[in-house]
Amino acid sequence: MRKPFIGGNWKMNTDSKIAVELARGVAQKCQQFLSKVDVSVCPPFVYLSAVKNALGSSNVGLGAQDVYFESKGAFTGEISCQMLKDVGCKNVLIGHSERRHVIKETDELINKKLIAAIEAGLLPIFCVGELLEQRKAGKTEQVVKEQIQKGMAGITVEKAKVVTIAYEPVWAIGTGVNATPGQAQEVHLMIRQLFAAMYNKSFAEQLRIQYGGSAKADNAAELMAQADVDGLLVGGASLKADEFAAMIKAAAEAKK
Ligand code: PGA
Repeated sequence: MRKPFIGGNWKMNTDSKIAVELARGVAQKCQQFLSKVDVSVCPPFVYLSAVKNALGSSNVGLGAQDVYFESKGAFTGEISCQMLKDVGCKNVLIGHSERRHVIKETDELINKKLIAAIEAGLLPIFCVGELLEQRKAGKTEQVVKEQIQKGMAGITVEKAKVVTIAYEPVWAIGTGVNATPGQAQEVHLMIRQLFAAMYNKSFAEQLRIQYGGSAKADNAAELMAQADVDGLLVGGASLKADEFAAMIKAAAEAKK
């Protein structure tokens, strides 16, 4: 049985006061579900330390929204895996669609980041997903497969075990239009089968696959009810502690 995993991606939102309040609220409202559900929040870099403090002794994990693959040196503006570990990060998002499509990150760069994060002992959440025109052209499977094959290139099965996949159709992110539970399940199953082929079946059975894209309190239960949906990566709805906690509750109940 895969333990559900809910991530909160705060993106470029909050300020120092709101970030701390939100973290406190999440820690307090989610604590009762943490034996059944893994939870991490990913604030902006500059608030990681403050959020870590605010999470206190709760078991809500801390994650970053990105990382650079080099360990140190002349890379102005970048943040290393060691720096993330130093401030208490457990997880890191890699290949989020906004990094792919707004910042123009390539599969090759994403692969380097994944390798660096795994080597450093971080637990990456590797995001994949197709654009609307790619879905309309019937290319969803091809696009997601290629992102996974290129992103995971050179990563052995032992190392791949720390990775969580987030399937986030780009057309569903921040749009209010979520993939239907059936659409999510279809791609999640394809991803699991791909991992079985790339690695092996028992690893694929343990792999956690989150769905992301307009996940919110009122669709969390039906998404989590799908056999291959093991969690959610939540943007907008993770900025409200009550709504985020409701989604975590739904995850706990869906996978009883
Ligand atoms: P959304 O974002 O929940 O606001 O659609 C999800 C994500 O980008 O991770």
